[in-house]
Amino acid sequence: MVLQKVDLPATTVEPNVRRLIGDAESRLQRYYDRSVLSEQQRVGRSDFYQVAEALAGLRVVLGPDPRFAEWGSGFGINTCVAALLGYQAVGIELDPELVSYSRQLATDYQLSATFWQGNFLPAEARQLLDPVDRIWITSLEGGEVYAAETCSLQDFDVIFAYPAPGETRFLFDVFEQFAAADTRLISFHGGGEMRVQQKVVVRGAADGGQQ
Ligand SMILES: C[S@@+](CC[C@H](N)C(=O)[O-])C[C@H]1O[C@@H](n2cnc3c(N)ncnc32)[C@H](O)[C@@H]1O
Repeated sequence: MVLQKVDLPATTVEPNVRRLIGDAESRLQRYYDRSVLSEQQRVGRSDFYQVAEALAGLRVVLGPDPRFAEWGSGFGINTCVAALLGYQAVGIELDPELVSYSRQLATDYQLSATFWQGNFLPAEARQLLDPVDRIWITSLEGGEVYAAETCSLQDFDVIFAYPAPGETRFLFDVFEQFAAADTRLISFHGGGEMRVQQKVVVRGAADGGQQ
C-alpha cells in the first residue's frame, strides 16, 4: 500500500457552507476570547474554506453517503461542513468541552454530524511511534474510540488530519496501516499547505513496494 496524491475537480465553496464557516469562526473566536489560554497555547486550526473545497471536490468523485472522520475535531467545524456536504460525518475529539461546543454547532444547523469523545488513534497504532517523532499535539492518552463505538477506522472513506510539525510521518503511517484501501486522507499542515492523498494497492508489488 502507498499513499498517492489525488487530483480534485475544481469546486467552489457554496454560500450555505460559507455561512456555516463564518458563524462557526465567530463562535470559535468568542471561545478563545473567554479562554485563559495564551495565543501560544492555543492549538492551531485549519483553513476551513480550503478543507471545505477539498471535501466538495471529493464529494464529486465518491459514491453516495461517503463516511468521513476528523481526527482531533476541535470545535467541530470541518465535521459540520462535511455533514452539510452530504457526508456521514464523525468528529473524534478528546476534549469534552470542545465536543460539547461541536454538538451545539451541529444542533444549531440541524446537521446529522456525530461527535465521539475519545482518542482517534487505534490502540495498536501507538507502536508506530518512533522515539525521534516530536509528538506535541496528538495525545496518546486513553483508549481508542473505535472499540467503544463498535466500529473500526476501516469503516471510513475520508479522514481529515491536522498533524503538528514532527507528527506528519506518524499520522501518515497510522493512516497507511489502519485505514481501508482506497480511503482518502485530507491533511492540513499549516502555512496554507493541504494535501489530499489516497491509500492505493500497488499492483504486482508486495505491501510497501515502490510505484
Ligand atoms: C490542531 S487542533 C485541530 C482542530 C481541527 N481539526 C481543525 O482542523 O481546526 C487538534 C485537536 O485534536 C485534539 N486531539 C489531539 N490528540 C487527540 C487524540 N489522540 N484523539 C482525539 N483528539 C485529539 C486536540 O484536543 C485538538 O482539539
